[in-house]
Amino acid sequence: MKTEMNTKKLYYGFPVVLIGYKDSKWKYNVTTMSSSYSLGNTLTIGLASKSNAVANIKKYGEFTLNIPCQEILNKVEIAGFHSGQNKIGMADITYDLGEKVDAPLLDECLLNIECRVEHIVDHGDYTNFIATIERRVICDEMLNEDGSLNSRDFNPIYFMGDDKERIYRYFNSDTKKLGENMGCSAEDDSICG
Ligand SMILES: Cc1cc2nc3c(=O)[nH]c(=O)nc-3n(C[C@H](O)[C@H](O)[C@H](O)COP(=O)(O)O)c2cc1C
Repeated sequence: MKTEMNTKKLYYGFPVVLIGYKDSKWKYNVTTMSSSYSLGNTLTIGLASKSNAVANIKKYGEFTLNIPCQEILNKVEIAGFHSGQNKIGMADITYDLGEKVDAPLLDECLLNIECRVEHIVDHGDYTNFIATIERRVICDEMLNEDGSLNSRDFNPIYFMGDDKERIYRYFNSDTKKLGENMGCSAEDDSICG
């Protein structure tokens, strides 16, 4: 049985990220968000049009996307409130500047992605930035010896919920290899696919 769900918003599991950007008032700034996805060498983010981040990313056409580790949830929350404030200062965030874009690469993040805005789509109350990825920087511990992503140890914070409650979630350690699950069935001991 299924029930029609009435909610104004439903986040079905998105990684929490920190967007870094050049700020005309505070020099550089950050904001917390979860509405992003990456396809090949492109990356798309959705932000409230009235936010300080949107005003500045529209102005400068560049940003970074940074994946925080679970240990800095306090900084994630500071950057997720206090609109328009100097959140880098408030959260005591340290950074280097990007090599390809003039925006901050946050030190305490597992992965930093330098992005150049290619298209801006305003839709309702939100602005979507479609960007080209210029460069990726990752913690050494998140790489295997051959330089590939250590997907088993990469533990972002996830964001999930509806208009009543939204929570942070963490991965468990279960993994399944892509393309090796078509023969398994729901009766298997382990969860299929
Ligand atoms: C976990 C989390 C996820 C968030 N996701 C988004 C998001 O995807 N898009 C958005 O516009 N705001 C999101 N927010 C809210 C913004 O971070 C918040 O409105 C912020 O104060 C905007 O700051 P600014 O106006 O200085 O840019 C999120 C906040 C938190 C804590």
